[in-house]
Amino acid sequence: MEIINVLKISTLSHFMSDDELALLVDSYEMISYSSGSVIFSEGDISEKMFILVSGMVEITQHMGVGERELKILNIGECFGEMGLITGETRSASALAKTDVQTLALSHEKFNNLLDNHPKFSKSFLKLLVERIKHSEQTSNNYILDAYHTVLLSLSNLAEARDNETGSHLFRVREYCKKLAQELSIQGYFQDTITPLFIENIYIVSPIHDIGKVAIADNILLKPGKLDEDEFSIMKKHAKYGGDILNKLMEEIDFPTFKMAYNVANHHHERFDGSGYPDGLKGNDIPLEARIMTVSDVFDALLTKRVYKPAFDQETVKKIVQEENGRLFDPIIAGILLDQFDEFIAIYEKYAD
Ligand SMILES: [Fe+2]
Ligand SMILES: [Fe+2]
Repeated sequence: MEIINVLKISTLSHFMSDDELALLVDSYEMISYSSGSVIFSEGDISEKMFILVSGMVEITQHMGVGERELKILNIGECFGEMGLITGETRSASALAKTDVQTLALSHEKFNNLLDNHPKFSKSFLKLLVERIKHSEQTSNNYILDAYHTVLLSLSNLAEARDNETGSHLFRVREYCKKLAQELSIQGYFQDTITPLFIENIYIVSPIHDIGKVAIADNILLKPGKLDEDEFSIMKKHAKYGGDILNKLMEEIDFPTFKMAYNVANHHHERFDGSGYPDGLKGNDIPLEARIMTVSDVFDALLTKRVYKPAFDQETVKKIVQEENGRLFDPIIAGILLDQFDEFIAIYEKYAD
C-alpha cells in the first residue's frame, strides 16, 4: 500500500487533506516484521512510533504476575507514540502475531514534524486526548470489575457459612433488578430510580446477609426453629452487616457503599414499622431495602430452608398478598404479584 493511503486511514492523520498528507510522506518508512517477532519490548528505549498497515499486533504489559493483554490493534492505529512524547522507555510491548507491515516514524522525524507542521501537532494532540479518555475508561472498568468481584466474594463468604446456596444470591439480584426496572417503567419513585440505581442494586443486593459472618455456627446452622434467645441473636446480623459496610464507608467514600449499607442494615425492616433493627416504617425505609425485602422473602418462601419447607407457588402468592402493606411496600409487592410468573421464571432459571 502507498504510504499516503495508509496515512489517510490512520487514526493520526485521517482528517488531513491530501496536500497536507503529502508533506508527511517522506518522514515515514515502511518496516515489516515476521510473525512472532517483537516490535518493541517494555523497558526498551523509545526510538520510533508506528502505524499498523497490515497484520495483527498485540500490545501487552507486565502486571506483577504474568502479562496482561492491553489490546489487539486495528489497521491504521498508532502505537509506540507515548514513549516519543515522554522520552521514557517503553511502558508496554508490541508483538507481531502474524506477518506485519508498519509505517514507522523515527524520534527525530517525529520531533521535526511536531516543530514544523502545526496540523500534525494538532492531530497528535487529538490522538493523545483520545488515548487518555480510553485509558481512563479502561482503568475505571478494571476498578469496577475488581470491586464487583470483591463484593460478590464477600457475599459468597457470608452465604457459604449459611445453609442457603449461592444461587439465592444470583436470584435475588435478578429480582431486585427487575423490580427496580418495572417500578421505573411504571413511573414510581422517579426521583430515586435512575439507570445507575438499577445497576447498583444488582451489584449490592447479594451483600444483604454479610452480617451473618458474625453469627455463631450453632445458631446459624441450627436445624429447625430458633428459640427466642437464639432468634434475637440471629436478628443482629442486619445491624452487624450495617456496621461492616459503615466501616468500609469511613475508609472509602463510594456512593454504592451507601446502598450496600442500606440493603444490609435495613433488609429486615417491615413496611408497618414492626421490623428490625431500627423499626423504620413505610417510606422511611430506604427504597433499595424495600425492594430487597420483597426479593429476599419471595425467594426464601420458594426455597427449602432449615426452618421451613419449600412452599408451592400458590402458597407463596397467598403469603405475599397477606404481607402486602405489612411486611412489604404495597407498590413493590404489587409488581411482584402482577408479574408473578415472570419472577417464578427467574427462580426456575437460577434454581439450585
Ligand atoms: Fe437477612
Ligand atoms: Fe437472603
